[in-house]
Amino acid sequence: MSKNLTWHHTAITKEQRRKRNGHHSCILWFTGLSGSGKSTIANAVSKRLFELGIQNYVLDGDNIRHGLNKDLGFSPEDRTENIRRIGEVAKLFVDSGQFVLTAFISPFAQDRQLVRQLVEDDEFIEIYVKCPLNECEKRDPKGLYKKARNGEIRDFTGIDSPYEEPVSPELTIETHLHSVEECVNQVISYLYSRHFIH
Ligand code: PPS
Repeated sequence: MSKNLTWHHTAITKEQRRKRNGHHSCILWFTGLSGSGKSTIANAVSKRLFELGIQNYVLDGDNIRHGLNKDLGFSPEDRTENIRRIGEVAKLFVDSGQFVLTAFISPFAQDRQLVRQLVEDDEFIEIYVKCPLNECEKRDPKGLYKKARNGEIRDFTGIDSPYEEPVSPELTIETHLHSVEECVNQVISYLYSRHFIH
């Protein structure tokens, strides 16, 4: 970090924004293999929250890599930097009084842990979107597993790049066992149970 920097406090606090919105703000961090259903579930939860009048926004892997992180690839170092930047952006959303739903593979436990430590204890909800590799490979919505198996893509998560499963996530949703609606209900019920929404 550069020297000679001063932190400026904002005129409106996070607490004031939450009070006006009538709900908590936090990161719903969806993690899982490519094709596990992260984006599908995150967007379906987002829609449900929107219908409930809850301020929220989705940050999605492919989209962020088109802009903010277009300089990053899929080496371990680049994935770590990808997640670090997303974490900082997500923290800003929390400060703005909103729910932010992030859908990134985020394969490394340490990177996810660093994001958790960026915010307060009740502001990081890790949601493991669990789906067996063979099922993700069968779905292969973008044809990427096929390319990875053919050697056309290197460092592909689950094939020749690791995915470290969350050890104690706040929630685990199993997309090969439950419908999208059931998975969404699981997330929304959790938010009610923590009194994050009313
Ligand atoms: S990471 O690991 O968190 O930095 O990845 P993320 O930013 O979520 O980007 C994952 C999406 O990028 C596409 N893609 C790859 N994924 C994994 N490994 C390799 N090598 C790769 N190359 C491209 C793929 O579409 C991922 O999207 P999802 O939605 O996960 O399938």
